[in-house]
Amino acid sequence: MPAWNVNVTFGGEKRRRYLKVAVLGLGACIIWPSWPCGGFVNSATSAPRGEIHSRASDLRVTLPAAAVLDVGSAPAEPSAVQILVPLLCAIIPVAYWWYVLVPFKRRELASSKRKGDMKEYLQDLAIAPAQERKPERWLFDKYLREAKLIEAGEASGLPKAVQTVEAGLQEQLPGGNAQFGVRVSLPADPSMEKAPLLPLPAGESSIAPSWPVVQPPEPAYSTLNDCQTCLRCPSAYGCGCCSTLCYATLGLVVFALFLVLYPFVAALALVLLLLFGWLAGSVMVYLACLRPPPALVWKGAKLLQLTRLTFYQLPKAAEWRVTDLKPKAKLTTGLLQYAIAVRVPFLSEDELYAGGLFESLVRLAPSAEFMTSSMFFSAPPAISSLSSFREGENPVEYVMEVCRDIYPKVVQEWNDKTSDRALAHFCLHGLGAHRLEKADPSLHTGCAYVVRTNQLAALPVRDGFEHYGNDVYFDKDFKVVKIVREEQVEPWEMPRSTTFLPDGSRTWEYAKFCFRSSLFSFVTLVDHLYGCHLQLANVVVQAMREQLSSDHPIRRFLLPFSYGTININDLARQTLVTRDSFVPQLLPLDNEGLQLAWASAYKLLPPEYVLDTASGSEGPLELMETLFDREKVIKRKQEQGLDTSYYQQALRYWRILRKFVADYLDHYYGTGSRGEMALAADEELKLFLLQTVTQLQAFSDPFSTGQVHELWPSVPNSRKKLIFINFLTRFCELVTVGHEQVGQVQAYAQDASFCAFSWSKSLRQEGPLVGPKEVALGGALLMALTSTPMPRLLAQSPTDDWSHVFPAMSEGDRAKIFGDFQSELRKFSTECDEYNATAAERPFPNDFGLWVFNPKFLETSVSI
Ligand SMILES: [Fe+2]
Repeated sequence: MPAWNVNVTFGGEKRRRYLKVAVLGLGACIIWPSWPCGGFVNSATSAPRGEIHSRASDLRVTLPAAAVLDVGSAPAEPSAVQILVPLLCAIIPVAYWWYVLVPFKRRELASSKRKGDMKEYLQDLAIAPAQERKPERWLFDKYLREAKLIEAGEASGLPKAVQTVEAGLQEQLPGGNAQFGVRVSLPADPSMEKAPLLPLPAGESSIAPSWPVVQPPEPAYSTLNDCQTCLRCPSAYGCGCCSTLCYATLGLVVFALFLVLYPFVAALALVLLLLFGWLAGSVMVYLACLRPPPALVWKGAKLLQLTRLTFYQLPKAAEWRVTDLKPKAKLTTGLLQYAIAVRVPFLSEDELYAGGLFESLVRLAPSAEFMTSSMFFSAPPAISSLSSFREGENPVEYVMEVCRDIYPKVVQEWNDKTSDRALAHFCLHGLGAHRLEKADPSLHTGCAYVVRTNQLAALPVRDGFEHYGNDVYFDKDFKVVKIVREEQVEPWEMPRSTTFLPDGSRTWEYAKFCFRSSLFSFVTLVDHLYGCHLQLANVVVQAMREQLSSDHPIRRFLLPFSYGTININDLARQTLVTRDSFVPQLLPLDNEGLQLAWASAYKLLPPEYVLDTASGSEGPLELMETLFDREKVIKRKQEQGLDTSYYQQALRYWRILRKFVADYLDHYYGTGSRGEMALAADEELKLFLLQTVTQLQAFSDPFSTGQVHELWPSVPNSRKKLIFINFLTRFCELVTVGHEQVGQVQAYAQDASFCAFSWSKSLRQEGPLVGPKEVALGGALLMALTSTPMPRLLAQSPTDDWSHVFPAMSEGDRAKIFGDFQSELRKFSTECDEYNATAAERPFPNDFGLWVFNPKFLETSVSI
């Protein structure tokens, strides 16, 4: 039986509310009782005020009233509040246990008995030899009979008597039918129902079924406005004077309450310490020294995310205050493990990002490096065992039973995930769309397109794990032709590859599974983590903060597009990239494999991400223009024959974004040659660009010197303006749709039969084609852990409007520039909706939706 089953059947919002109510209720229990009666000391002493005063009026010495309490006086009469507080403290936990925990656990057990660990356990028990496990058989006799795992019929003797008592107990317990004399039936848990397989397209194999997507409930995030409402203090976040006065007054009240409540709190703390101190100490020692098992680490991760989401403040652009921006300054950074020449600013350097409770706690860490060196993130144990899914067991339901509360919304619609047609959609509209290349027909007869992952095939893996790899080839009509798998060989052996043909066999289905999973891992590690987060977004934001003043128009323009990036990237460094953190745990790569993967990450990026100054074929300026000019890259791809819907929508989006940037620059710097001259003369802007390019150069050549700095003065102003526009647009494009393409992988991460981070080598021969349970759950939890909402690109309410941060701009200009951009986005969003709505009317392979460019789903900046 897997040791880490976590069945959670609460709705997400409901669960978060419970947590909030519990925390607030606890606070209320402590604070409220003393409020109406003027303080706990008054109640506790309960001596008449006049008496205390008269005793203190000794002629020889004047003592404070609190110091002359007469311990020999008559016992104080307890007040109603004194009685109520302990009563509530006793009643609330018991009521919670009786009305919430017990019914919940009963539903959980019922679910587990129908399917899950309990069922597996009962099945094992039933097939065990008759002479073995007798005590367990006796204990679970009733369950075994109910599950028809042993012969039906009445038990006799002691088991019969036990069953009779137990049946009555079950009726009387909370959640039972007889409670309060009312016969009610437990509400059916939809997750308990076995989800039907998606109908297979005609002619496709049933070896690899497609499991339906499970949509999590919509989370309810709080905002700063919610806090205002709670405080009932409209100016709390308004003007500085009012808020300071408000906080100071409230703080004084709270301070007084603390003083008054001190004896009670101290007594309570002592009682709790006596009751649970030993246990808590033991747990702390265990966690610190004995390395907790994987199950506990993942449960801790889930609890962390649940807490984080509960207190997470949804970013509202209208609430940003430019006075909170930090001045330009050199940022303190930490060096990334594994990868070459990547430094990431510490999250304490971030500005504006509110985050939530978790982020606030992290900022309290004693040092910037503390989190990296802490046990929780840097040393969770390796996944020590791999449990296979049973035939017909739904992997989506398996992970969603655990992650339902914290899993992000699934935007993409995947009704068919595993057929050959789905493979074409996966490469043309899904995760492979940005890695689609033209195939060489002279080397691969009949092939027109290819998506490659064999670049990873040579990376060493841990014992028992399958290695990555597989290139999939399509003909000109996007019918899959073959999959070529590069096998791992010893250094002295000839390279060897295996070709799989679409014959519907298990081998073919396995080859497809390997390809999808390899691409999923490849894109996550290289394109998402390295390329998007730690390379371009990281470098640009660092240069922005170090070179642009807080009132610089470009710093203000990039504010929404850089929102939270430092925070997110530092968390990614600590939790995803650091040795033995979450991502390395899920990958099959051993330490050598990880080192090689990160060291090669720069060269493994899609070509348009790479600044190749070493080749010498083009000058650094031409390469810089190519790197930033997305339109040039897309047109080149279209000329090559890659005129896919993905690139068509990419070009449309690029032009909208570029116009927004150009309009903004024209407003501040002017148009024509005067504008070009003003732009070229902006020293801060120049240093911002050159620092970015120099740092990007360092990824390919750590010892590169400032060639760009030498060439820049001779560049004509008109060319400089184009470079600036493309540079800013490219950054905004990458952190919006670029990140959406590689990072919004909810549909994939939810289903380990669709995509898995790692899987056993034995899967080639046997078992359902799905990753192990531990990896499935780890991947889904990772997805959930790395999903925090960022500001919306398409303003869907007045609070999404960030144009107020543009400096020294009239209302009219602001409305015009921002309004035109939003209007274009809205129009494009309608087009994207229409494209998806008419998918079924188009012939294969374009009979599929495309979600990554739709502005209504986009956020302005990267989330992890
Ligand atoms: Fe991300």
